[in-house]
Amino acid sequence: MRIVMIGSGYVGLVSGACLADFGHHVTCVDKSEAKIDALERGEVPIFEPGLDTIISQNRNAGRLDFSKDLAAPVASADVVFIAVGTPSRRGDGHADLTYVYAAAREIAAAVEGFTVIVTKSTVPVGTGDEIERIFREEFPGKDIAVVSNPEFLREGAAITDFKRPDRIVLGTEEPRAIEVMREVYRPLYLNEAPLYFCERRTSELIKYAANAFLAMKITFINEIADLCEQIGADVQKVAKGIGMDKRIGDKFLHAGPGYGGSCFPKDTLALVKTAQDYDSPMRLIETTVAINDNRKRAMGRKVVAACDGNVRGKKIAILGLTFKPNTDDMRDAPSITIVQALLDGGADVHVYDPEGMEAAKEMLGPVVYGKDAYEIAEGADAVVLVTEWDEFRALDFKRLKALVNKPVLVDLRNIYPIAEVVRHGFSYFAVGKKSGS
Ligand code: UDX
Repeated sequence: MRIVMIGSGYVGLVSGACLADFGHHVTCVDKSEAKIDALERGEVPIFEPGLDTIISQNRNAGRLDFSKDLAAPVASADVVFIAVGTPSRRGDGHADLTYVYAAAREIAAAVEGFTVIVTKSTVPVGTGDEIERIFREEFPGKDIAVVSNPEFLREGAAITDFKRPDRIVLGTEEPRAIEVMREVYRPLYLNEAPLYFCERRTSELIKYAANAFLAMKITFINEIADLCEQIGADVQKVAKGIGMDKRIGDKFLHAGPGYGGSCFPKDTLALVKTAQDYDSPMRLIETTVAINDNRKRAMGRKVVAACDGNVRGKKIAILGLTFKPNTDDMRDAPSITIVQALLDGGADVHVYDPEGMEAAKEMLGPVVYGKDAYEIAEGADAVVLVTEWDEFRALDFKRLKALVNKPVLVDLRNIYPIAEVVRHGFSYFAVGKKSGS
């Protein structure tokens, strides 16, 4: 099929490249000349494991190309995906749909023949209805169907998640659109990925409900972690003990510094706002948002406490800045709040992240950027593990001990068993687990 992907960001690029890999012809469109020029030079503007390979393979096979122009590719398309950003609107947390509706109008002006318009972006319930209204009232006579097809891609695992999904959610009741979407995802069908067809508004809500539930599950184990610290229990063992119950499941039960990223923070807020608009408030998610925001600040206080309650004039080494490993994305990363708290306390903050340094430079205050964990640990009064990158999972504690000024490790991802750290002469502070020296 001929597919056009409007928006070449995390979602659009991964989805477009994977659909091309299924054998479709895909044109990824973006307004950013710089982004399209970079892609045409073979450069991939985002860090996503495997994305550069799948893009170059499909470009070479002639199944994937890039365009700044929207009209021409849309005119000959069978399916047009809208994968533009839907950031939180400044001030009120609603999803900002400016880019979605602008794309819809440009698409409407260009479509020829029956065309399926798919919202891949995370959009509030009712957005599909509004796009349909725009077509009907502003561009009468266009033969289209609007389908909701939310993505469930995790950054750092996006290609695997696209190719091995637990399900494909498709919100439409239009028979022609159902047939077209079956054809789009036929290759996945062979992987037994269930295509789940439902009404469009239900599909739009499924996306928010999924992300909000996952954010709440993480926040639940984070609160259990705080309780564990008070009663001397071990949160990792609690997580394992409850996770063996198939009704709970063992995923997303890793206690940490709080969730970040480009999705959970914005989607939980948008769902809370939608629910309030419909006078059916989601109080569990309102509380999840508040707890998570407070937690990031509490992590800053945990580091200060590990430095005998005062970081003024002390050197603190921060290992990991991105909101999770295997991404360069710094959006709503806990490190931003933690670093600011330490700077406010008068600390001399040194940071290192394998992929996030460039993005971090736009977002962090006056910190020193180092070239690796050991360089920033030199003379440090505390080493703080914020993001669980693989390269931080086997630190040479003997080498670290010789480098630091004070042997203090604050492990916000519970990577290390306390015994190993204490054996090397460090004081160990974790999340929901026994700390000590
Ligand atoms: C999430 C959803 O998983 C994905 O389905 C959706 O499409 C987009 O949002 P993503 O934000 O990329 O994906 O990352 P994810 O792996 O879900 O982690 C989100 C945040 O939760 C990260 O900050 C991560 O550190 C945190 N997290 C995750 C925990 O603190 N504990 C966990 O057990 C899992």
